[in-house]
Amino acid sequence: MSADDGLQRGLSRRCTLPDPKLDALWTSIIIDDAIKDQLLGQAVLNFTIRSKVDRSVLPLHGVILLVGLPGTGKTSLARGMASETAHVLSGKFQLLEVDPHSLTSSAMGKTQRAVSDLFSQVVAEHALSGPTIVILDEVETLAADRGKLSLDANPIDVHRATDAVLVQLDALADRFPRLLFVATSNFPKAVDSAFTSRCDLVQAIPLPDRAACARILKDCLVGLGRTFPAIGRLATSANFDQGANACVGLDGRTIRKIVANALASRREVALDPNKVTMDDLVRAVYVARRTIRSTPHRSASETWITIVELLTHGNASAARTELLAVAGVASSIITDQFPKDVPIVVTCDGPRTRIHCTYDEDAIDGTDASEDGFGFDPLAGDWMLSFPCGKDDLAWVQAALKPYSHVCARGLDENVEKTSADSARDDEPLAIDVGRFLD
Ligand SMILES: Nc1ncnc2c1ncn2[C@@H]1O[C@H](COP(=O)(O)OP(=O)(O)O)[C@@H](O)[C@H]1O
Ligand SMILES: [Mg+2]
Repeated sequence: MSADDGLQRGLSRRCTLPDPKLDALWTSIIIDDAIKDQLLGQAVLNFTIRSKVDRSVLPLHGVILLVGLPGTGKTSLARGMASETAHVLSGKFQLLEVDPHSLTSSAMGKTQRAVSDLFSQVVAEHALSGPTIVILDEVETLAADRGKLSLDANPIDVHRATDAVLVQLDALADRFPRLLFVATSNFPKAVDSAFTSRCDLVQAIPLPDRAACARILKDCLVGLGRTFPAIGRLATSANFDQGANACVGLDGRTIRKIVANALASRREVALDPNKVTMDDLVRAVYVARRTIRSTPHRSASETWITIVELLTHGNASAARTELLAVAGVASSIITDQFPKDVPIVVTCDGPRTRIHCTYDEDAIDGTDASEDGFGFDPLAGDWMLSFPCGKDDLAWVQAALKPYSHVCARGLDENVEKTSADSARDDEPLAIDVGRFLD
């Protein structure tokens, strides 16, 4: 990418589009074509229609939001979509990428000013010179949900930054019909609803399904095969399916990381990557799976404490406080044996962790248990823990968990990756309840 050095504050990238490297990102993300079509269609529409139709007729703000679990390809899709849009419209576009962290890390009281300056000066200046696409990656940092922020825990500055973003979005939408914002969020519950209501499209990016997992794994093995031919051959080996099946439930980034982890898992393989086997791969997948002995080996509440210790490495932290605060709900879920067949799932910026519990004979016997600590931080960055929960209990459990921003519950037949994409209807692009995203 031809990012230049003299970047204004708050920007992490500026380049012209189309850009072949970004085109490659668009093709590298393996996802239902309908999602890519919808995204590209919305982006193109922004440039073909907004300058011609009054906002009172069609209230388009020029904002697309991609939401999904970490590692599902949102940032890559946002960049790729920007470049594809320039191709489709055969025009020269500018791409700006905002680094929200650099804006919010400024001294207290300065965030609002930094946000306002970036939008009203830098973005407006580019938008004046021609069609412009602005990527707001991890937008929850900038447009944090004011309703969920407590004033003690979060400086008033964050509230003001959210206000500034909204004011600026409205002003820019009015002035520049050839400007498009593409925002991403790993954590849609934290995005202010006034921001999501301004989005012309909220697109949920799901975890890859089985076929997509197989394609991502194959793509990764074939790519490595260009340097290490024996790895490439795994992609067509008889036990390829075994590896692909093990990857189901993982996000695209983790699948690629697992291949890297497998290469590092044995010294022999690290020295000669051609020696990696499908077994190494499958073993690497299970690194982030734990089975905890529950009743009668331990009480339900002791089971939960064991899980919290495991996830937090026994260290005091805000995460630990939140996990301990939900002990009542957790114990009830464990007592009801929901985590027996359907795991408690923890997602974060690193590998996702699946935690099962065993009960009765299995809990006493303990042979299936795996209670070792993790070699990584399962709560790194934006984490989220999702309890499996039976239909009859789901409503009260979800209500009880409402005050907790990192803990949620889902039905037993819902994948943790279940998003609102399934229920999104073409005629209702604004009606997606992203708050339910991880519920
Ligand atoms: N659906 C997918 N198909 C192929 N690769 C994927 C997919 N999802 C994620 N990846 C891989 O994971 C990497 C990280 O993706 P990224 O766009 O940063 O995800 P996000 O922004 O959702 O966290 C990508 O570079 C890509 O290699
Ligand atoms: Mg991202």
